[in-house]
Amino acid sequence: METSGENRESVITDSRIDADDSRHVVIGIIKETYDSRVALVPSALPKLQKAGIRVLIESGAGLNASYDDSSYVKQGSEIVSREELLSKADVIVSVKKADEKILASLRTGQVLIGLLQPQIDTALVRSLVAKGVTAVSLDNINRRLSRAQTMDVLSSQANIAGYKSVLVAANEFGRYFPMLITAAGTAKPAAVLVLGAGVAGLQAMGTAKRLGAIVSGYDVRPETKAEVISVGAKFIELGDISGSGEGGYARALSDEELAKQQESLNKHLSRQDVIITTAQVPGRKPPLLVTEEAIKLLKPGSVIVDIAASSLGGNVAFSKPNETVITENNVKIIGAPDLPSSMAASASDAFSNNLTSLLIHMTKEGVLNIDTEDEVQQGVVICHNGKITNQAISEKLAQAEEE
Ligand SMILES: NC(=O)c1ccc[n+]([C@@H]2O[C@H](COP(=O)([O-])OP(=O)(O)OC[C@H]3O[C@@H](n4cnc5c(N)ncnc54)[C@H](O)[C@@H]3O)[C@@H](O)[C@H]2O)c1
Repeated sequence: METSGENRESVITDSRIDADDSRHVVIGIIKETYDSRVALVPSALPKLQKAGIRVLIESGAGLNASYDDSSYVKQGSEIVSREELLSKADVIVSVKKADEKILASLRTGQVLIGLLQPQIDTALVRSLVAKGVTAVSLDNINRRLSRAQTMDVLSSQANIAGYKSVLVAANEFGRYFPMLITAAGTAKPAAVLVLGAGVAGLQAMGTAKRLGAIVSGYDVRPETKAEVISVGAKFIELGDISGSGEGGYARALSDEELAKQQESLNKHLSRQDVIITTAQVPGRKPPLLVTEEAIKLLKPGSVIVDIAASSLGGNVAFSKPNETVITENNVKIIGAPDLPSSMAASASDAFSNNLTSLLIHMTKEGVLNIDTEDEVQQGVVICHNGKITNQAISEKLAQAEEE
């Protein structure tokens, strides 16, 4: 989206008023190596410039998300090479963790922003602390703060993943989703079960419902029942298993509880045509919900999309991130952790809005103001001035050292 000619003029003028860069924080947007998204889209630039933020874009950074270099230039940004970006920017921003070469080039005092997964990637946190780099991890946003909701990339990207998971499943499934009565016979509606009723799961249920499937949903947190019903799905109850944890998230179940859950789920799973799994526990390996035994019970032609598939494991036996596995009984298991990247334009628009909101919150008079007393920053700022500032990550690192 572009601003009107009049607005554009004033933006460009603004960014040139002050030739003294020391009064402007300079943010550099990296071209992603492993993802199609871009952290900022052109429509964000006028707002950032107004806050005194100067933005450099690595050439080609937005191309896979439908934004070419000229669309950034029109909004007053500068296109630079990666080398220039790394040397001039005070703040380096990428969607996913930047690649090793970029990380190696960071210098003391520079700020790194992105989805850094500090709970899992403790080695990265240690190396950033040692270098004196300030790390701001977007996946650590405190989602319970109402003023942080506009900054919540986890929700915006999970929404996209939930929506796209249904399209992927429908594309792979060899039958209709809706019931169709035609002269050539009647097609039964597909039975779709979504496991995990967080942001992605609820979006998947609503999307499958809109495509005409018969949808059911399950979550280990019983309080999700009303939300599942509100998107038009039936809630599956599994007796007294309850995994509500802190802050509205699930806790990790014990091995015994998990085994009981798997067993109770099996009889529901065998009736499904399509299963979408989204169950996560923050900072932990995703729980295994669809076991090898359950997969054997599925009908040939069934499709499973595992959004939670990761290098640590997923919700489904055999699932591997970014791979499709076809079992002996012809069940297709799609490991799909990167669905937001496959809808890069919408995902980048949303990501960019979240990031802009956070950057404006953190900027005072054109300078990035790291303030670990601030409620929002307490969550996202992981380390600063060679020290870990985030309590939860500090505990995680201590725990990792003990193990
Ligand atoms: N502003 C806010 O208050 C705000 C913003 C965003 C999300 N939230 C809430 O935070 C919660 C988590 O959202 P999320 O989408 O990031 O979750 P998530 O990605 O961490 O997990 C997805 C879902 O998996 C479920 N799950 C975990 N273990 C399971 C198991 N063994 N069996 C079945 N399901 C299991 C979780 O309960 C969760 O609903 C939700 O309640 C969401 O509504 C609140």
